[in-house]
Formats: sequence, structure tokens, C-alpha cells
Amino acid sequence: MIFGIVNNKGGVLKTTLSTNLAASLSLSNKKVIIVDLDGQGNVIATFGKNPNNMTHTIIDFLRNDCHLNDCIVEQRKNLFIIPGNDDLNFFDYYVQSNEIKQSDLKLTLKKLNEVYDYVIIDTPPNMSTVVAIVLSVCDVAIIPFEPDQYAILGLKRIVDATKEFKNKGNANMKVIAVPTKVNTRVTIHNEIIEHNIRPKLTSQNVYVTKTFISASTKSTASVGYEKVPIVLSVVKSKYQDEYMFLKEEIINYINSLSKIEISTTNNNLTEFNNKDNANSYEANINKQKNDQQKINIYGSVTDYNTFNNEKENSEAPCLHFNYSDKKENKD
Ligand SMILES: Nc1ncnc2c1ncn2[C@@H]1O[C@H](COP(=O)(O)OP(=O)(O)OP(=O)(O)O)[C@@H](O)[C@H]1O
Ligand SMILES: [Mg+2]
Repeated sequence: MIFGIVNNKGGVLKTTLSTNLAASLSLSNKKVIIVDLDGQGNVIATFGKNPNNMTHTIIDFLRNDCHLNDCIVEQRKNLFIIPGNDDLNFFDYYVQSNEIKQSDLKLTLKKLNEVYDYVIIDTPPNMSTVVAIVLSVCDVAIIPFEPDQYAILGLKRIVDATKEFKNKGNANMKVIAVPTKVNTRVTIHNEIIEHNIRPKLTSQNVYVTKTFISASTKSTASVGYEKVPIVLSVVKSKYQDEYMFLKEEIINYINSLSKIEISTTNNNLTEFNNKDNANSYEANINKQKNDQQKINIYGSVTDYNTFNNEKENSEAPCLHFNYSDKKENKD
């Protein structure tokens, strides 16, 4: 699954969220890679390394100067990083001079998605070409935002951008907004989130997490002194729990969307095949009446009453699926 951490506004905790979300997923035994597409190179700097001293970065791979594996740093168990540095600021120039094809970056991210459970992409605070590529390929766009009085304006722009990419072909992208640097003593923060942002974004299909990241100096301290994102700090604090809760909430939200029901009554099931084995099915469905889009789904059937119609009193024959849009790795 590809997570793009995006917001054209600077300093809203994109990098802090990328590294802590990645760290918390890796602690749950998931294989995670962070791809740093921001020329500031702050992801690898979080782990105490100088981005400009890295032998290879993603740009070297895209310019055919090294293999993909050469630019992957194994940071710790289950946690890998493709560092970025100042070379990324020349991405558009390399595209214009035909040294890099935009589609190569897209393909690389998709390829990583086949190997890692989660690909987490940190992005720069602007709407450059790399951010456009991320929005065209990510499964989930995560937007950290600071709930100040200007937040809704900034959020509107980035949410509109996600809508545009949904319309342009990344139709299944989910969008999640995460309140950051929240000061619970500042009542206006809570009011802005609950009375302004949550209702407005919910009506636009954007999920605003209940978990927020508190304003605190602890995170900066763990990066500064221990050279790790706070989730990996040996100094235990409630600020680590916030990221663990956030990870749970995001995964639960995504899983809740993944459970779909295919009903045969409204003719939305056009094809259904048992593909690989008894527990793996592939179906083409039309999601809504006028929506001719077909998607492949893979997963295990949890309720068979469409086909054997064994259940008594069932209102309509239907099929319950736990599904993902990706084939399970069977190794
Ligand atoms: N919980 C927190 N509360 C307040 N500040 C924090 C918190 N966590 C991290 N910071 C600090 O906030 C600053 C901005 O964080 P970060 O670099 O993650 O933002 P960003 O959105 O990636 O910024 P940029 O847009 O420049 O890439 C950093 O100095 C970081 O140490
Ligand atoms: Mg950053």
C-alpha cells in the first residue's frame, strides 16, 4: 500500500509523520520503506545522516547511475529508506532534458509496492511534479495540517488537488487529514477541528482522524539527541502513543473501507471467477449504477449466500468480501 504524505504548506509535520508512521508500522512486523522525495533530505537526517553524503539517492537510480537496491538503506529491522537530497530539486530539469521520464518514478513506486507492505512517501512543501506523481499513484493521501485559523483555506487547495487526481485516474485514492501540533490548552484548536474542518472535510469524503499529534518539543529532542523518530526513542512518553494510536486508526479506517458487499440484485456483479485457489477470488464489478469502472478485487469470501443462498431470511442474495486491490503474497 502506498501512502503519500502531502501538504504544500511547510512545517506541518510531513516528515515527522512519515518517519513515525513508518517506524510504528515496522514495529508491527510490517516491511516498510520510506521514499524521500523532498530535496531537503530530512528523512535520512532524522536518523542522523547527512543527506548530501549518501552514495546514491532515487535521482541516481532514475538517471540510470545505479541499481534500485543501491539506493536503499536498511535502517533497522523492517524499516528501509530511499534517501533524497538536493538533487531532487533538479527533477523537473531532468524531466525537461529527457534524462528522466516521469513515468519511471511512478513505475518505481509501484515496483516497491510489490515488495514492501507499505511504501511511505515524504514530499516537499509545494505542488511540484513529484507531488503530482505521488498523487497519481498513492493508495492513500495523508494530509497533516495545523488547526490554525487559516488551515481550512490551505486544506481546501490540497483537498481539491486530490479530487483532481481522483478524477484523472487515481479513482480509488483515499484521503485522510491528520491534525498536528495541536495545543489542547488553546481552545480554538479544538473548535476549528470539530466545528469547521471535520464537518467540511467529511462532506467531501476526507476522513479526519480523531487521533491528533500534540504540539511538543519531545519529538524534536528525540531526533536531535537520539537520531530517531520519537516512536523509536528509548525515552517512553505519551507522544509515542499518539503515533501508535494514529497508525491503528488509519489502518482500521482503510480496512473498514475495504469490506465491500457485492449484491447480485442490482446487477453490479458482472463477472466472478475463482482464480487461484479456493480462497482467492477475482471479480469485475461496476461499483455504482452509472459507474462503468471495473475493478479487480482479491480476497476471501466471508459469506457465501449469493451462490448457495443457504441463509434463511436473507434480504438479498449477496456476497461479503474481505478484499484488497492487491494479490496476497503467498510466500
Ligand atoms: N509534535 C510536535 N510539535 C511541535 N513541533 C514538532 C512536533 N514534532 C516535530 N516538530 C518539529 O516541527 C518542525 C517541522 O516538522 P517537519 O519537518 O516534520 O515538518 P514538514 O511538514 O516535513 O516540513 P517541510 O514542509 O519543511 O518539509 C521540525 O522542526 C520538527 O522537529
Ligand atoms: Mg519535511
